Amino acid sequence: MPDKKWSESRAPAGRIAYVNGRYLPHGQAGVHIEDRGLQLGDSIYEVTNVLDGVPIDEAAHLDRMERSLGELGIAMPMGRAALKLVMREMIARNRIRNGLLYLQVTRGAARRDHVPPKDGPRPTLIMTMRTQDMAGLASRMEKGIAVVTVPDQRWARCDIKTVQLLPNLMAKQAAKARGGAEAWLVDKDGFVTEGASTNAWIVAQNGDVATRDLSNAILAGVTRRIILEAASEAGVNKVVERKFTVAEALAAREAFISSATGAAVPVVVIDGQKIGDGAPGPLTRRIHKLYACKAGIKS
Ligand code: PDD
Repeated sequence: MPDKKWSESRAPAGRIAYVNGRYLPHGQAGVHIEDRGLQLGDSIYEVTNVLDGVPIDEAAHLDRMERSLGELGIAMPMGRAALKLVMREMIARNRIRNGLLYLQVTRGAARRDHVPPKDGPRPTLIMTMRTQDMAGLASRMEKGIAVVTVPDQRWARCDIKTVQLLPNLMAKQAAKARGGAEAWLVDKDGFVTEGASTNAWIVAQNGDVATRDLSNAILAGVTRRIILEAASEAGVNKVVERKFTVAEALAAREAFISSATGAAVPVVVIDGQKIGDGAPGPLTRRIHKLYACKAGIKS
């Protein structure tokens, strides 16, 4: 039985989760004790923003889900049309118009063994949904956030969106302890890779709108890609995929982070130092709007 207090305190009444074909009250939903996601982190996830009841950038998130699973040799838990139906059913059953939909697929439940079973078990699919703190997001857009740089201590396949997030959460914790809302991870050569749960961007002194080029060192953010497309279509400065150092970020005109949870959120302080004049920059605001327009979000 789940801990009653936990479900009462954290799950608003009526919150529904999906687990392997069943819609259940959030506090009663669970997976097998030998689920490989639980025991080995053998699992990937996606987070999509839901606005006005519609999952944003849905196809791109499902493409990335399929890619992550493919890299690990895990089968898609169901066809795309069925997945989309479950997503819509979750939105309807949770009665959430604006929120975040979380999807996770594990390799499934099997007797514990590091080597994945040859004829794998049926993958586990779970979905949860929660409301977005829209007021908090509006305030971050208005005031900007502080980020703190920390060494990137993750593995060599950050392009796969796995649930193995310990280094990410340790980085976030460290950032929080130093007054930051996000951590920017720095590789051994002093270049920023990305945020703990976002992609990192600067508007450099020379006007470049820069974000790290795709490789195994970062996650190919869906929001990142759409911003790149929207910004270059609109002829925004020089939009480039390239590395930048912490020193270059500190000297930047503007900085921002991108993710499904917040599009382009201004960064106004890095390691305690103001970026530009310490207020959200005009290009960041413009890019946020361009993203919203491209993603079909009404503002
Ligand atoms: N994080 N980089 C990392 C390490 C991420 O975890 C995320 C997303 C991103 C941005 O990707 P996208 O634009 O597709 O959301 C970049 C999600 C939101 C999370 O972990 O909650």
